[in-house]
Amino acid sequence: MTFDYSRLAATCGVESPENAVTLPPEAYGSDELYTAEVDRVFKRGWIPLCRVEQIPTDGSYYSIDILGTPLVVTRDRKSDIRVLSRNCTHRWMEVCTGAGEANVLQCPYHLWSFGLDGHLAGAPEMKESAGFDRKDYPLKQFRHEVWKGFVMVNLDGQAESLAHQYAALDPIVDAYDLENYRTVEQTDWGVCEWDWKIMVDNFMECYHHMGPHRGSLEDQFPASLSYTGEVGDYFTTMWSGQAPGYPADPPFLAPGAATLSPDQHHKSLIFIGYPLLQIAMGPAYMYWLKTLPLGAGRIELQLDICMSPAALAAPGLEERRSQLIKTICDIHREDLDACTAVQRAVRSGVTGVGRLSHLERPLWEFYRYLGRELGIIGKTADLASTA
Ligand code: FES
Ligand SMILES: [Fe+2]
Repeated sequence: MTFDYSRLAATCGVESPENAVTLPPEAYGSDELYTAEVDRVFKRGWIPLCRVEQIPTDGSYYSIDILGTPLVVTRDRKSDIRVLSRNCTHRWMEVCTGAGEANVLQCPYHLWSFGLDGHLAGAPEMKESAGFDRKDYPLKQFRHEVWKGFVMVNLDGQAESLAHQYAALDPIVDAYDLENYRTVEQTDWGVCEWDWKIMVDNFMECYHHMGPHRGSLEDQFPASLSYTGEVGDYFTTMWSGQAPGYPADPPFLAPGAATLSPDQHHKSLIFIGYPLLQIAMGPAYMYWLKTLPLGAGRIELQLDICMSPAALAAPGLEERRSQLIKTICDIHREDLDACTAVQRAVRSGVTGVGRLSHLERPLWEFYRYLGRELGIIGKTADLASTA
C-alpha cells in the first residue's frame, strides 16, 4: 500500500509545541517510509558505532552492522581510527567478526589479508592474474568523526561535520567530562519487534515515569520535574530533575566531577544526537542505546553502560558498578514492555493521531527534524516525486 505522506507531513509540520501531535500510527510500520528513512535520514546522518575505549590499542578492531552494511572500526599502526567495510575485495566474504586485536584482518575464504588501515597486505596465488595490483583492492573506507569518545560514521560521506552539528552540545556535556567516561558493560537485547521511532519516542520523554517506571523512577525522578533543555537542528536535550529531599547518591548521581554545579548533582541529562545517538547521563553514569534499524517496525538493540572518571576512581567501584548495571537493566526492561505494547497497537491497525503533553516536547522536536530530513515540512508531500 502506498504510504500517505500527507498525514506524516501534518504532524511534522506542526509549528508550536502546544499543538504537538503524535506521528500517524502507520509511520511505524511502512516499508516505503523506511526506505526513505534509510536514504534521507540514516545514510545522510551520523550513526554511532562504538566508544574509543572499545578500540583501545593499535591493532584493535570492533565489528558492527549498520543498515545491513558490515563495518569494522579499527585502530591502525599509527593509532589512527578507521571505519572500514568488512567485505573482502576478492569475493566479498566478511574479513572478520566480533572484536579483538590483530596484526591483519585475514579473510577466511582465500586468505587475502588486510592491514588495519584497510590496505591489501597479502593475496596468495594472484601472480598469474594479469595486471593485478594489491594497491587497487583496499577495503572500502567510510567517513568517520569522533565526538566525546563516540566513533560515528556518515555512510554517504556528504554530511555536514559532526563537530559542527553537535557544537552547541559541547558546553552542556563538557562539565561532565563525557569524553572520559568509560564503558563498564555491554548488554545485548537482540532483535526487537518495534520501530526505531518508537524507541526514540520512548527514550526522549520522562512523562512515562508515572507509568512503567512508577515503582522504580517516579518517586525520585518524577515525570513532572522533567523539562526540555537546549535544542538544535541536530539534537534535543531533556533534564530529569530529582525530587526535593533526596541525596545525590550512587549509582546515578554520585560520585561526580567537581566541575559540576550543585544543580547538576541532582538531575540526569537525556539527549539525542539525531538520528540515533541516544544518551542518558548523570554525574556518575552514562548509558547509550545502540538502536540498529533492521526494517520498518524492527531493530536490533544494544545498551552500553559507562561510568564517569570520578565514579571509576572512587572506592567501592565493583559494588557501584553492579548496582548501576542492575538498576539500568531493570528500568530498561520496563521500557521494552511499553515499546512492545505500542508496536502491537500499531500493527492492530489503530488509525488515530494522539495529542502530546508539554512533557513530550522532545518528540515534537524529533518530528520536526524528521520532517526536515525527509523534505516534507510545509508540503503535501510526495516523496516518490522528490526522490
Ligand atoms: S573472498 Fe576474501 S579472500 Fe576470497
Ligand atoms: Fe523509560
